[in-house]
Amino acid sequence: MADVHKRYILAAYPDGMPKESDWKLETGPVPVPGPGEFLVRTVFLAPEPRLRLMMNPTNDSNRAMRPNGGMTDIGKIMPCTILGEVVQSNDPDYKPGDVVEGFLGWQNYAIATRKGFSAKNNPSGIAKMDLSLGTLSSFVSVLGIPGLTAHLALRHEGKVKPGETVVVTSAAGTVGSVAAQLAKLAGAHVVGLTSTDEKCEHLIQDLGLDVAINYRKEKDLAAAIRKACPKGVDYYFDNVGGEMADVIKAQLNPGGRVTRCGIVAKYNKDTSQWRQSDEFAGQFTIHDHVAEYDGARKELSQLVKAGKLKYAEEIFDGFEKIPRVFIDLLNGKNTGKFLVRCAPDPKGTR
Ligand SMILES: NC(=O)c1ccc[n+]([C@@H]2O[C@H](COP(=O)([O-])OP(=O)(O)OC[C@H]3O[C@@H](n4cnc5c(N)ncnc54)[C@H](OP(=O)(O)O)[C@@H]3O)[C@@H](O)[C@H]2O)c1
Repeated sequence: MADVHKRYILAAYPDGMPKESDWKLETGPVPVPGPGEFLVRTVFLAPEPRLRLMMNPTNDSNRAMRPNGGMTDIGKIMPCTILGEVVQSNDPDYKPGDVVEGFLGWQNYAIATRKGFSAKNNPSGIAKMDLSLGTLSSFVSVLGIPGLTAHLALRHEGKVKPGETVVVTSAAGTVGSVAAQLAKLAGAHVVGLTSTDEKCEHLIQDLGLDVAINYRKEKDLAAAIRKACPKGVDYYFDNVGGEMADVIKAQLNPGGRVTRCGIVAKYNKDTSQWRQSDEFAGQFTIHDHVAEYDGARKELSQLVKAGKLKYAEEIFDGFEKIPRVFIDLLNGKNTGKFLVRCAPDPKGTR
């Protein structure tokens, strides 16, 4: 194989927002699979905000993100979910041409086994995708972990009823946009928060939310929430944590529910300064629901095909763009999913 293996390793622990120099690009020969292994060529690489936490030195507050102790560290590969194609295999169940999703990191080729890069951090291991359900890129956005997170959190914790009021933060993001639309489909009055007028317009015009709040522009966020939720808040889907979550939770009705999905407002902060309410304990964890992935993926696919669930993706071509795309994601420049295409889509689906 004439191609070159490229991978980004962590070069420095970031202080606040990461810089491109916090990673180092390494190149070498494309690895060859050993007994029981197969070689995956990355097609779409899907950065997500929580990867920022994995760039910190391991300590008590982020150990939950790295239960195996130092999944990432200086000199180790940057972790990430990818969607790729098996190109060489010594496992009869994973044939060349199969499309798989796995936590294989910032690299254009990866050696995998059926258990995946780390079965503990990614209990689903390497998952084979059923191409009849959607495009390749959708398997790491609306039909992937982000979509499954929104769907299963609403199923297990949201249990939204018609007429209820639901608030979603980071509502124009991948998880948030699915959560907000599913709450709408359940008959709720849905209010989404995001950081720009363009994203607010997307929430109303494209996704059909009832109210969109640009939280950066609001001088009195509590008053804006009160106005948008005249009957109080029945369910809060919290993607950001921190002070914004406090303001929304203060307006929960008696018996109101909260899904603590993520704490993106804190990912760039020194974890030693997190408040107890920012910790992971008690958070919804998608990997606790692996047995439901296949069924939930099919349900999401049906909604997408029926035009009831919309999703936005922006695809950047070129492996070397990964660090910039990840930093832009942390800066909120995304509407929907940011993806990096590292190789042509072998199925021509996108
Ligand atoms: N619990 C689980 O099992 C699980 C699984 C997957 C993901 N998650 C979590 O779900 C959340 C959403 O993930 P995603 O992949 O869909 O990312 P995303 O929402 O598409 O992208 C991140 C967004 O965070 C917002 N943001 C960034 N800095 C912020 C700040 N300081 N305050 C408020 N908002 C800020 C930005 O949106 P705005 O422009 O709206 O500010 C940005 O677009 C993350 O917290 C992630 O860790 C949890």
